[in-house]
Amino acid sequence: MEKELRTDFLGVKLSSPLVLPAGVLDISFSSMKQVSVLGAGLVTTKSLSTQARKGHEGPVVTEVEGGMLNAMGLCNPGIEAGIKEVHLLKEAAANDDELSGNCPVNMSIFATDKEDFVSIAEKADKSEADFIELNLSCPNVMDEFGVPLAASEQMVAEIISAVKNVTQKPVIAKLSPNVTNFTKIAGAATDAGADALCMINTLGPGIDIDIEMAKPVLSNITGGMSGPCVKPIALRLVYECRKAGLNIPIIGMGGITNGRDAVQMLMAGADLVGVGTAVYYRGPEVFRLINEELLSYLRRKGLDSFQSINRII
Ligand SMILES: Cc1cc2nc3c(=O)[nH]c(=O)nc-3n(C[C@H](O)[C@H](O)[C@H](O)COP(=O)(O)O)c2cc1C
Repeated sequence: MEKELRTDFLGVKLSSPLVLPAGVLDISFSSMKQVSVLGAGLVTTKSLSTQARKGHEGPVVTEVEGGMLNAMGLCNPGIEAGIKEVHLLKEAAANDDELSGNCPVNMSIFATDKEDFVSIAEKADKSEADFIELNLSCPNVMDEFGVPLAASEQMVAEIISAVKNVTQKPVIAKLSPNVTNFTKIAGAATDAGADALCMINTLGPGIDIDIEMAKPVLSNITGGMSGPCVKPIALRLVYECRKAGLNIPIIGMGGITNGRDAVQMLMAGADLVGVGTAVYYRGPEVFRLINEELLSYLRRKGLDSFQSINRII
């Protein structure tokens, strides 16, 4: 990959700032390898839990104005199966001329309480993944008022410090936009020792209705929103974290579909840029296309690296 796009993220060399976010593709090593070859600098696994989960009955996704609703229900084959796929991916990358062994992986894990997060993190720590990402957007089963983990500064901080105690790998906190105190939560995650923040998870949730059937389209009724319609909010939340003085690496995502969107996300204050729903619109080669679009912006502006793009703050 061109030198203008190379970067070092938490001590790991990436060929591009583009990241495959959690859950957008299946967990198979071949899907993850494909997007790496096509130009993703970092690939994230589906969010993994202690045991395999079936997820919700279909339909689990629907296209809406400017984006998608999904209610996958965090289906995944369980942490052990995820660890095996990451092993196969690393093995395949080692034997691949295009990747020449370099295929950084971010392992996303989730749980509904701190103890469970710690026990999955202990397993993820023994995997070949380069980073561990904590998907904090789950309901908190321990909270009698049903406040999600990601909405509680205290829970976010406790989970991050507990996980940091059991792993040497860099820990990335994935935050939910569906809170009223976003920058406070981001600050609590930073103070608790997160090595980076990943934002945003899906927005909402929202509802789509089939008027012929007079029924919700999704079997789960509601689903999280992603795609271009969430981009202005994703940009705003990244910007607000920087404005609040948070000096921590940020993976910014939410509706990034082309080079212009990626430049906007970098200008808002992100260090890396996630490209999720756009994979459905432009195919897996979206990573190659956005890399090219980014490069053409850099060359047009006479910049020698994407890191030279000026932030708006
Ligand atoms: C089908 C689908 C499945 C997802 N699954 C997960 C998941 O397992 N864990 C997670 O942290 N985020 C999950 N997400 C959220 C994405 O990682 C990302 O944060 C969000 O979609 C915003 O980026 P985008 O607009 O580029 O898709 C999922 C999103 C989609 C569309």
